[in-house]
Amino acid sequence: MKPVCLVLGAGRGIGANVGTYFADHGYHACLVRRSNQEALNESIDLIQKAGNLATGYLINVIEDDSVEDLIENIEQNIGPIEVLVYNLGAQSGMKLLAETSYKEFEWAWRIANLGLFRTAQSLIPLMQQREKGTFLVTSATAAMRGNKNQHSHASAMGGRRMLCQSLNAEFASKGIHIAHIIIDGMVDAPDTLGKMLGDKEFNKLKEDLGSSDLLISPLEIAKTYYQIHLQHRSAWTHELNISSYLDKQWWND
Ligand SMILES: NC(=O)c1ccc[n+]([C@@H]2O[C@H](COP(=O)([O-])OP(=O)(O)OC[C@H]3O[C@@H](n4cnc5c(N)ncnc54)[C@H](OP(=O)(O)O)[C@@H]3O)[C@@H](O)[C@H]2O)c1
Repeated sequence: MKPVCLVLGAGRGIGANVGTYFADHGYHACLVRRSNQEALNESIDLIQKAGNLATGYLINVIEDDSVEDLIENIEQNIGPIEVLVYNLGAQSGMKLLAETSYKEFEWAWRIANLGLFRTAQSLIPLMQQREKGTFLVTSATAAMRGNKNQHSHASAMGGRRMLCQSLNAEFASKGIHIAHIIIDGMVDAPDTLGKMLGDKEFNKLKEDLGSSDLLISPLEIAKTYYQIHLQHRSAWTHELNISSYLDKQWWND
């Protein structure tokens, strides 16, 4: 039985790339996304055609009991979840205060924080029994600084960062490696950034930035996630910042 890498939020950007990379390195990739069955099937097919193991789930992670049931099901029927990638984003566009509904604000908190809390509460006790586990949490520049059009996103991602620190404080000493990974720039992610910008603008962005490596490659992010997982416990990274070579990092901008 192979160990499992469970990716919550496995679109064709960071999520599926991380799952595929772990599958290439001996893991059974369990990919979860919310609405696009066809794209999920494509990601699973690609992994299987390379001779590796993958299972796909179309689930809304923040619906009642869904993530708890999913974790139980995978642990019973597929294998022990050794690596968890919490990749759900809470971005809903650039909106000033008057344009941000309180429902949207609440949704961002649910997806950025409550979903992560519920995942941790279901999975960390199992990892703790095994004294082994890696919790990789994707984050964003908004976790580090607020902005005039980021009310719901920045407050939710800032909270996610604090939750990661709290989990780390309680569980690092129990053998669970928790990493908060700040993606500080735009990613070649058709299902998130691509959707937000629309096909025309996204394709132009890819043309303008992609060839000079200014659009962050999700495959390169996946390699970094794998390296974090491999780290020796005497030298664990809890937080890191990923940006392209010409981008100004959040603290310089
Ligand atoms: N893309 C960027 O430029 C960028 C920049 C900075 C930070 N980030 C961070 O990167 C992470 C996302 O990575 P990505 O942008 O490369 O996206 P991705 O991995 O390509 O896709 C994420 C997927 O999450 C799924 N999802 C959303 N809500 C869900 C829910 N409630 N339950 C289950 N699945 C759900 C969506 O599935 P469906 O499409 O099927 O609905 C979406 O395709 C986020 O944490 C975000 O904050 C991204």
